[in-house]
Amino acid sequence: MDDLSGKTAVITGGASGIGLAMARRFGAAGMNLVLADVEDGPLDAAVEELSAAGVEVCGMHCDVSDLAAIQELETFSREQFGNVHVLCNNAGVGSGGLIARSDDIEQWRWVIDVNLWGVIYGCKVFLPAMIEHGEGAHVINTASMAGHASAPMMGAYNVSKYGVVALSETLVKEMQMTQSGVGVSVLCPAFVQTAIGSSRRNMPDEARAELDGDQPSEVQSAIDQMIAAGIPPADVAEAVHDAVVDNQFWILTHEEAKPAITDRARQIVEGINPTPTGFV
Ligand SMILES: NC(=O)c1ccc[n+]([C@@H]2O[C@H](COP(=O)([O-])OP(=O)(O)OC[C@H]3O[C@@H](n4cnc5c(N)ncnc54)[C@H](O)[C@@H]3O)[C@@H](O)[C@H]2O)c1
Repeated sequence: MDDLSGKTAVITGGASGIGLAMARRFGAAGMNLVLADVEDGPLDAAVEELSAAGVEVCGMHCDVSDLAAIQELETFSREQFGNVHVLCNNAGVGSGGLIARSDDIEQWRWVIDVNLWGVIYGCKVFLPAMIEHGEGAHVINTASMAGHASAPMMGAYNVSKYGVVALSETLVKEMQMTQSGVGVSVLCPAFVQTAIGSSRRNMPDEARAELDGDQPSEVQSAIDQMIAAGIPPADVAEAVHDAVVDNQFWILTHEEAKPAITDRARQIVEGINPTPTGFV
């Protein structure tokens, strides 16, 4: 898609971090925006900021782990602006801990419901009309470098992001095979300066009940430091914009993280056992 102006983008998790940066970038390109998020205050603030900048934008409270909510978002988006051209399945949460624990099942369910089922629902609900309208369209699924390299203590997150990479790779092949006119990208950043380190703010009660009070998770402080040293979300948004315009599938924003992918591939084909490394 080379002409984005006047077209419509739907962005989940659009009230903060990478989603908000994508909203600013697509808004600057002249797109109409629908922002979806579970946090009403930041969502209202994002809509206000973008409106003040002259962007046609509206927000909707939407929990991406709820199929009915995604169906409502799709209807709402078409009612507001007509056809949807760009879909950013971006909402996500982080959580950490050892796999060999048995007391964090609801935390696993939460991470996979939001990060993986949210993206599955987005694709399944929005794609039929995006294909049908024939004006050209593009889906961007936010995965992570955690979808390529399995850092320890991040089991649920890794599983969810490998799932998003697999879904996206399958989807891009199917979109070509069926000559759908829909492009696909998968966004795989390493660390980005966002609020993902405080994902617990959106944790449902069942998962929260498993927490030991407000104690930080085992990996929290290490992750907070790596996020603080990450790249600005605006850089990620620029890469996403360019990938839509250039129809580029892989969006890898961190050059220094790429060896983790090649090392893993080499270890697989050479039969080398994994060691406790991450992607940076
Ligand atoms: N920040 C990083 O280092 C990093 C790296 C790789 C990938 N990612 C991915 O980027 C995406 C965006 O995260 P971010 O880093 O901008 O974090 P963020 O916390 O700043 O933004 C995430 C947004 O998603 C929203 N959200 C959470 N649960 C939701 C739900 N159930 N339904 C709808 N919205 C929900 C939050 O309210 C928030 O506005 C996520 O998928 C994350 O996994 C982030």
